[in-house]
Amino acid sequence: MATTPPTRTAAATHDDPAIDPIALLRGLVSLRRLTGMYPAGHPAIEQKLSEVEQSIQRELLTASPLCLDVVRGQAHVNGLPFRADSDTQAQALRELTELGVDSIHMHAGVSRRELLALSEFLWQFKAASGDAVDAQLARLDIHHISLGRLLPLDTRWRAAQWPDAPSGPLTPDYEESLALTERTFDAAAAGQGINLVTVRHVVELLMRKVATSSAALGQILAVKLYENLTYCHSVNVATLSLLLGKQIGLDERQTSALAEAALLHDIGKTRIPLDVLRKPGALDRRERKLMEAHTVFGAEILAELDGLQPLTPTVALEHHRSLEGGGYPDLGPGRVPHALSQIVSVADIYEAITGARSYQDPAMPEQACLILARLAGTKLNTALVKAFVNAITFFPVGSVVRTDRGELGVVVATNDGEPLHPVLALMDDGYERRPGRVDTSERESAGAYLRHVIETIRPPEGLDITSFLTARA
Ligand SMILES: [Fe+2]
Ligand SMILES: [Fe+2]
Repeated sequence: MATTPPTRTAAATHDDPAIDPIALLRGLVSLRRLTGMYPAGHPAIEQKLSEVEQSIQRELLTASPLCLDVVRGQAHVNGLPFRADSDTQAQALRELTELGVDSIHMHAGVSRRELLALSEFLWQFKAASGDAVDAQLARLDIHHISLGRLLPLDTRWRAAQWPDAPSGPLTPDYEESLALTERTFDAAAAGQGINLVTVRHVVELLMRKVATSSAALGQILAVKLYENLTYCHSVNVATLSLLLGKQIGLDERQTSALAEAALLHDIGKTRIPLDVLRKPGALDRRERKLMEAHTVFGAEILAELDGLQPLTPTVALEHHRSLEGGGYPDLGPGRVPHALSQIVSVADIYEAITGARSYQDPAMPEQACLILARLAGTKLNTALVKAFVNAITFFPVGSVVRTDRGELGVVVATNDGEPLHPVLALMDDGYERRPGRVDTSERESAGAYLRHVIETIRPPEGLDITSFLTARA
């Protein structure tokens, strides 16, 4: 039984000849200081540079990228937490995070020149500079290193800091949830177990920040345009489940159990071969059986972990079961899924329908709602479907949408009881503001809507949405 999350200690062990990440972070911090103190080419710089370079290259032989992250004061290497065992180590971490660097990712091919350029960059770096960090690094010809959170959190939301992950107008909390969940799933797929500290951190982020933010649905829409990978799907299902949980008035304890269960409901997919998981089009019988087994695999993986909420494995097992007894796996005819499983099922189906697939475009929220309504009463709980549709504002304030009349606009207000028909501030095709607003809830005399929102557009990077929201009509 795994009782604690996997933790590595700072000292490298015999079966783990890889680097000591704390020493590496400390090395980078010293290198940064040395480049500030001495002229270029000074032996002190060269020697530190050699040390740092050697340990990085050694680690990159076995794992690329090498991800060094500081989450809440604790160092993580490739997603696994490392304890800082001394004050000097803790000081090194503080020095980086105070600078605004919480995340350094190095890719195979990183050169000595890039490492030196990075330390010079970090020495001169000013967090207030408005330029995107990746653009600044690219100008210095640094292409194998990416840095995270170099900007103050509240202004970072449009900066692309995670080049391997979905880009778009993501808030830091949502982005961090995605990144941590991706690592959790990757580690589980690699047979390294599930890091409960990370899971709790994501649950906390989703409950306190993501699902309470008015931008929550906009975030989900932004990721949909990327690709519906399991970790994105999981964060979205958890967020949607939380919105539904709030709508039906779950208490704090139930809400936290729901968030954890929703986040991990598809963890069993980490045991399904990628070619089956990503296969475009229909699966054959054997592949379908295997895919369906993700429910049982998930329950097995989660039941072996101590420290989870009691219903988390149950939800993984039951989330494809119907209210009236069908679905998979076969658990006997009389068994009604647990309430938490029923909530996750609604969020799961909605997320799956509206998510992009490699072989099909995501469905519009309106279509997804119709499908949910059709499933209500048989597969899904009708009261939950109704509550869900009421909770979801499909086009949240701040999202950029197009109407069936070809108008482009930013959602500046929603209409109560009209979740599909918000008020838009208009823009032209170059995303420049144009005078006027339209209320898409207006109807013609016969009662039909004058216009429908047909799609959400990913706005170009750097577009100042706030100016639309604050502008007068
Ligand atoms: Fe599933
Ligand atoms: Fe799912």
